[in-house]
Amino acid sequence: MSKKFYIETMGCQMNKSDTERLEGMFMELGYDKTTDQKEADFLIVSTCAIRQTSVDKAYSQLGVWGKRKKNRPDIKIGICGCAAEIDKDALFKRMPYLDLIFGTHNIFKFPEFVKRVENGEKVCEITTIPYPEPEELKLNRQDTVGAWIPIIEGCNNFCTYCVVPFTRGRERSRRPELIIKEAQKAIADGKKEITLLGQNVDSYGKDLHDPNITLANLLRELNKIEGKFRIKFVTSYPTDITDDLIEAVAECDKVSKFFHIPMQSGNSRVLKAMNRRYDREQYYEIYNKIRNRYDEVEITSDFIAGFPGETEEEFQDTLSAIEELKIDYSNTAIYSPRPFTKAGRMTDIFIPDEVKEERFQRLHETNCKMTLASNQKLVGKVYEVLCESQKEKHGKMMMNARTTTGKLIHFPSEKDLTGEFVNVKITKAQTWCLYAELVD
Ligand code: SAH
Ligand code: SF4
Ligand code: F3S
Repeated sequence: MSKKFYIETMGCQMNKSDTERLEGMFMELGYDKTTDQKEADFLIVSTCAIRQTSVDKAYSQLGVWGKRKKNRPDIKIGICGCAAEIDKDALFKRMPYLDLIFGTHNIFKFPEFVKRVENGEKVCEITTIPYPEPEELKLNRQDTVGAWIPIIEGCNNFCTYCVVPFTRGRERSRRPELIIKEAQKAIADGKKEITLLGQNVDSYGKDLHDPNITLANLLRELNKIEGKFRIKFVTSYPTDITDDLIEAVAECDKVSKFFHIPMQSGNSRVLKAMNRRYDREQYYEIYNKIRNRYDEVEITSDFIAGFPGETEEEFQDTLSAIEELKIDYSNTAIYSPRPFTKAGRMTDIFIPDEVKEERFQRLHETNCKMTLASNQKLVGKVYEVLCESQKEKHGKMMMNARTTTGKLIHFPSEKDLTGEFVNVKITKAQTWCLYAELVD
């Protein structure tokens, strides 16, 4: 009987994409995937370090597996991803049951790591030199209608609150040929949506030193692939969005009119302290330029409550920005001090936890209000949606689907339409989803 692996994935889509690669490599080594942790022979947690809560969650999962190992000493336990990059081999001391620690730069060396661990070695390899990507890599794609494709890894921005440049390293773009080949394969395999991933997708190509390699041109190339599917890209850095990109999105019929442009704070002094390269006015300018370019476009954002030194008035600038700009949806977070970061050392101006939490609550409420307002604009209109899955709700079969801009739509259908594009009329809006009915 072949051995079984289980990977628990935390964090962003970048980690989810890494997991598809790791699973593919595990399978090439003859392992089978299991969704039941208890029957796994090799367990791995792919970690996120963006906030302390993410790290704590990963380490408590490892603790559970460590206890299990007492009764089953043959099982192998590994950690990878962003938290592994930070704590490195110190983790062996804290968690002596660990067999494998590796980072974000060397996931393609994974087959070698597994073999060494199988031979009884304890392996810790964290490097800042990227291990080259193989020409042919079998991915174990998730059972979803879409496919994620990383286009650029790492980040050069060093926002003062953020750990990502320390966990994912400097920007490295993948060759366009590799990306196009991967997209062609995903579409041939029946995927209906391609999401291009990067911490700052607008930087795509800068390190490849060819002025023709840009995100805008990559979209134009991908748009030529035959078939009916959608193309998206995340995440955009406000002042790096070029006019050419805005035009490419307008030109390409397969590209969703959707931008995720984190603002982080609505106050110019805080933005400066965060080392973001724009102020409130510049963000407004780019936001409105995008809003006004298309008939319908969804613009989403990220915000942090309680950055060190943030005053009540400055925080209110964040709330007013969300309202004035009518941001369609925002990810919201409480500031969490991170290792190696500049803001993490500003301990004398840290905001007390109860103040941060109270601000976060108001941030959340404003976000809910604006998300509902954004959803209400769709009521009564007809949209083409991509069906993602079918679920029973109150004894009725319902489809979960998304508009091209990513809004979640539920509508009744006895027939399982997963993977199909259909037209629906929106009947009701709630904060986190919309209801609709099929139209012919
Ligand atoms: N590259 C993207 C964001 C990547 S991290 C960008 O530039 O916007 C995802 C989000 O996590 C960030 O947008 C930020 O809102 C949040 N985040 C990052 N570091 C954080 C911290 N120390 N505390 C709280 N939230 C944080
Ligand atoms: Fe972090 Fe800033 Fe880079 Fe985004 S742009 S990953 S927030 S350092
Ligand atoms: Fe987390 Fe690393 Fe992504 S810190 S958000 S998993 S890049």
